[in-house]
Amino acid sequence: MTGGSSATPTTRVLGLSGSLRAGSFNTALLRAARELAPPGMSIEIFDIASIPFYNDDVRLAGYPDAVVEFREAVRAADGVLIASPEYNRSVPGVLKNAIDWASRRPDQPFAGKPMAIMGVSNGALGAAFANYHLRQIFVFMDARTVNGPEVMIGGARTKFDDSLNLVDEPTRRFVADHLEKLAALIAALRRI
Ligand SMILES: Cc1cc2nc3c(=O)[nH]c(=O)nc-3n(C[C@H](O)[C@H](O)[C@H](O)COP(=O)(O)O)c2cc1C
Repeated sequence: MTGGSSATPTTRVLGLSGSLRAGSFNTALLRAARELAPPGMSIEIFDIASIPFYNDDVRLAGYPDAVVEFREAVRAADGVLIASPEYNRSVPGVLKNAIDWASRRPDQPFAGKPMAIMGVSNGALGAAFANYHLRQIFVFMDARTVNGPEVMIGGARTKFDDSLNLVDEPTRRFVADHLEKLAALIAALRRI
């Protein structure tokens, strides 16, 4: 058994990126998190690109397949890890749209879910406004979110290399610490 201080070999985390572009720093941050996860934690990145625009008429007729898949993936995960950019000082529409689909009854899958929220931007503020808007959303959805250390990574071009590897050592340690906190939260909620 290779378990770390708080993770178990069966801790499965679902990674969600708020950016759809191939060269996304936030998706690259999720890939880095996969490397930096504590022993026993695996991180699977779920691509939200195929989720359609929210339409309550469509929901009432039956959740689309991509939405069913997304809701099931959230439900099945031990925890959820979000890495999102900030668009116009808030959450990118594609991510908010996916969250909105997940938010409807029955069995809203984020309720009680351990979560961690990170963000990276080119600017100085590290997607801080989106990070806090996401925290507000997940309070309303009754999730359990790691409070700190807050992962708000500014100056993306100085932290990632040209192949989108996270190369800045202090940032790597910071992300690893955040993942330890997520593992601890998952373990603590399992004990309740
Ligand atoms: C529509 C749009 C709005 C943006 N608004 C902000 C913003 O409010 N704050 C910020 O720091 N960066 C903003 N940016 C820049 C993004 O942070 C930057 O493009 C970032 O790299 C996007 O994340 P990604 O690399 O994961 O795609 C915006 C970018 C776009 C496309």
